[in-house]
Amino acid sequence: MPAQVITLTSGKGGVGKTTATANLAVALAAEKSKVVCIDGDIGLRNLDVILGLENRIVYDLVDVIEGRCRLKQAMIRDKKLPDLYLIPAAQTRDKNAISASDMMRVVKDLRSDFDFVLIDSPAGIERGFRNAIAAADRVLVVTNPEVSAVRDADRVIGILESEEKGPAALILNRLNPALVKSKDMLSPEDVLDLLAVELIGIVPEDENVIIASNRGAPVAYDAKSRAGQAFRNIAKRLKGETVPFLDLEAQGSLWERIQRLTGRK
Ligand SMILES: Nc1ncnc2c1ncn2[C@@H]1O[C@H](COP(=O)(O)OP(=O)(O)OP(=O)(O)O)[C@@H](O)[C@H]1O
Ligand SMILES: [Mg+2]
Repeated sequence: MPAQVITLTSGKGGVGKTTATANLAVALAAEKSKVVCIDGDIGLRNLDVILGLENRIVYDLVDVIEGRCRLKQAMIRDKKLPDLYLIPAAQTRDKNAISASDMMRVVKDLRSDFDFVLIDSPAGIERGFRNAIAAADRVLVVTNPEVSAVRDADRVIGILESEEKGPAALILNRLNPALVKSKDMLSPEDVLDLLAVELIGIVPEDENVIIASNRGAPVAYDAKSRAGQAFRNIAKRLKGETVPFLDLEAQGSLWERIQRLTGRK
């Protein structure tokens, strides 16, 4: 079976695309899928740090595209998971160093060797975003439960549909159940009312995400973390498994409504 190519994008910056890419890569590879992730954020690479692989970079994506190395030479094998690889972004170049057709060529060469190719998109709707979605079979839009992030996600979902890359699926990241309860944060239901899109996962706000990212060991490794569990669940859904949504504390009826809304109940 050729790889499923999945791009994570958002419109707004800082909502958790890179965090989600790293965690889904770890969760999929830990369950025996062969995974390669590509850092599509040329000039602002981060995925290497979150995966704890920054000291192993010799070549990057732009080196591959410009012919300074072979694709295999730019693929860094993970320290813990032998089925996980990273192709890092260039640090000293910008998004204009690559084109959509470059990206499609690289991904074409990876398809037959992997189960999943995950592409971390830069923020925005410009060239870097377009490069990142060019080769995608499926796009996951990451948003936070904030009006500005949701508005940008809506714009991106519209572009994806017009580019025939839809329908996108949504990861709602950094949900704080206490703030939802006190009506100080948009609820998942509010977000789904605003964005007519399939929900693939809700990840709670969790300080372990930041601690884990700083250590270079994504939170998906942490059996006790709620965010880690949420990412592991999304990974299972990407593989086609049906996994119930986490009941994020004392929200029984709300979560039942979400499950009904998303057709899971
Ligand atoms: N569920 C979460 N709980 C707590 N912190 C989180 C969560 N998800 C992400 N973060 C934190 O939010 C910050 C931004 O995350 P990240 O770098 O993944 O976003 P991004 O969308 O890739 O940003 P950019 O647009 O700059 O590429 C990081 O400090 C990360 O640790
Ligand atoms: Mg990022």
